[in-house]
Amino acid sequence: MTKFSASLAAPALLATALLAPVLAATPALAAGDPVRGAQQFIVCKACHTVDAGQPDRTGPNLNGVFGKPAATNRPRFKYSAALKASRLVWDDATLDAWLTDPVKKVPGTAMHFIGVPRKPNRDNIIAYLKSVKP
Ligand code: HEC
Repeated sequence: MTKFSASLAAPALLATALLAPVLAATPALAAGDPVRGAQQFIVCKACHTVDAGQPDRTGPNLNGVFGKPAATNRPRFKYSAALKASRLVWDDATLDAWLTDPVKKVPGTAMHFIGVPRKPNRDNIIAYLKSVKP
């Protein structure tokens, strides 16, 4: 009997040992890396500043944008009618869709940007956007 239960326990323990690091590295929410996101934000910098107090460029300054309704972060920026009418609120899901393909998410947007095709890169950039606030 002891032999039998030991042989069952061993694979179970092994599976737990193997899975534990995988589970620990996979939180339920988007697990972006803000440090990598800061580097990957380079493609956005052509049009966006991000530090508090920096001016708008082709696109609005993005400091504090996470959690806000679309087209409200910079009241003086000339947002498109399409983005103003979108009724989006910038959270993980809406930013993910927006950064995948802005023109598809909001037809008529002024953000003429091809998008970030890789999900891990979008997660990193979103984590970075969360971290840049006043
Ligand atoms: C070619 C210029 C350009 C590039 C590159 C660009 N954007 Fe934009 N972005 C814009 C413009 C213009 C708007 C305003 C869109 C509108 O009014 O329809 C905007 C709007 C946004 C908004 C909404 C802001 C608000 O106040 O609601 C977010 C978030 C955003 N961009 C994130 C990004 C990120 C992240 C990247 C890089 C992955 C990026 N953008 C790349 C031009 C650009």
